[in-house]
Amino acid sequence: MRITVIGTGYVGAVHAACMADIGHEVLGVDVDAERISALAAGRAPVHEPGLDEILARALASGRLRLSTSLAEAAATASTHFICVGTPQRPDSKAADLRYVDAVVDGLAPHLRPGSLVVGKSTVPVGTAARLAARLAVTSPGTEVAWNPEFLREGSAVEDTLRPARLVVGVVSARAEAVLRAVYAPMLRAKVPFFSTDPATAELVKVAANAFLATKISFINAMAEVCDAAGADVTVLSAVLGADPRIGPLFLQSGLGFGGSCFPKDIRAFAARAAELGAAESVRILHEIDRINLRQRQRTVDRARELLGGTFEGRRVAVLGAAFKPDSDDVRDSPALAVAEAAYRQGAEVLVHDPQALDNARAVFPELTYASDIPKVCEDADLVLHLTPWQEYRELDPAALAEVVREPVLLDARNSLDPQPWWSAGWTVRVPGRPLLSPLLSSDRGGERCM
Ligand code: NAD
Ligand code: UGA
Repeated sequence: MRITVIGTGYVGAVHAACMADIGHEVLGVDVDAERISALAAGRAPVHEPGLDEILARALASGRLRLSTSLAEAAATASTHFICVGTPQRPDSKAADLRYVDAVVDGLAPHLRPGSLVVGKSTVPVGTAARLAARLAVTSPGTEVAWNPEFLREGSAVEDTLRPARLVVGVVSARAEAVLRAVYAPMLRAKVPFFSTDPATAELVKVAANAFLATKISFINAMAEVCDAAGADVTVLSAVLGADPRIGPLFLQSGLGFGGSCFPKDIRAFAARAAELGAAESVRILHEIDRINLRQRQRTVDRARELLGGTFEGRRVAVLGAAFKPDSDDVRDSPALAVAEAAYRQGAEVLVHDPQALDNARAVFPELTYASDIPKVCEDADLVLHLTPWQEYRELDPAALAEVVREPVLLDARNSLDPQPWWSAGWTVRVPGRPLLSPLLSSDRGGERCM
């Protein structure tokens, strides 16, 4: 099939390369000419495991081409996937739809009758209907469908090639048939395929993100109670997760969720529900957001405490800048928010990240960045573990103890094994767990809980 993918960021670059990889002729389109030239030269715009390889393969096959022209897009194919950003509006909590609207308005004069515009961007319910009404006037005979994207950064290629489910919101059997043909290899692999109306498809996406965000904030709320009660959230989470009705995923307590999706999606969902007169139904989302943001503050407070009550004149080593591991994305990164707060309160802050240093430096140039962990930790009064990269799990705490000023670790992601750190003489603090120390561990049978 011939398709276009408009917007080649975290979602679009992966979608375009993967669709070419499964055999489609794909034109990737973006307003960012530099991004388009880089992609055409085989340079992925974002760090995603496996993307470089799949992009190289797609380009070599000749099935992936790149352009900055929506007119060329309309002339090339009759199925167009919209993958542009839908960030939070600067003046409210609602979604900013200007990029989606710009694509539709840019395509409209060029669209041939029979064209299908398929949204993948995450949008407020009712967007597809609004855009369809607009195109009915400017481009009769065209159709709008919504095909929400559920990929996770860090496993975007895998999630695209082997998704847990596919959802299409369509108003005609023809549109469904087109989308079934696009995803034919996935359907052959028995990926569940849900065909519904556009409003339900739009809503499914934000409901899924809201549910996942709720799980994370729930476990973080439990961590707060554990702190107050002297209980251990790690054990609590493991026990909850062992109940198949609850499940173990997305119950990792710590610094909370960030990134370009959960925070803005739950706010946009609440804003849209309010417009629809259903504000009460999703009131919980405000609390989910508040609990989430509180984890950042609690981490800063705990770090200050560990430094004896002030950041002034202290040196803090930060492990992790990306909002999650295996990504270079720092949009609304909890790690960077904590690093920034420590800096604003007087600390000298040195930041390490395996992939996100350039992006972090671009948004927050005041911090010091380095790609060498011992260098970042040199003479540190405190080490903050803020993004759970695998690399940090493999650190040698004894070697690191040699370079820091004080061997004190705040594992704000609750994902390092404290045992080797204790053995190397570190004091380890973890939110939601009783004060961890080798002594306490043996006293309380703490190892049992690891
Ligand atoms: P992004 O910011 O990484 O990429 C958006 C791209 O669109 C950029 O390259 C930008 O230059 C381009 N663009 C903007 N206006 C354009 C226009 N008028 N014409 C052509 N290109 C244009 O965004 P993203 O993270 O890929 O997210 C895209 C959408 O997918 C959002 O709605 C997001 O909520 C949703 N989503 C994202 C993820 C994720 O993990 N990032 C997962 C699922 C869904
Ligand atoms: C999330 C969803 O998982 C995707 O299904 C969805 O497509 C995407 O949002 C989107 O709509 O953009 P993503 O944000 O890439 O994907 O990453 P997640 O793995 O969901 O992590 C999000 C945040 O939650 C990260 O900051 C992560 O550190 C945090 N998290 C995750 C926790 O704090 N605890 C957990 O148990 C899981």
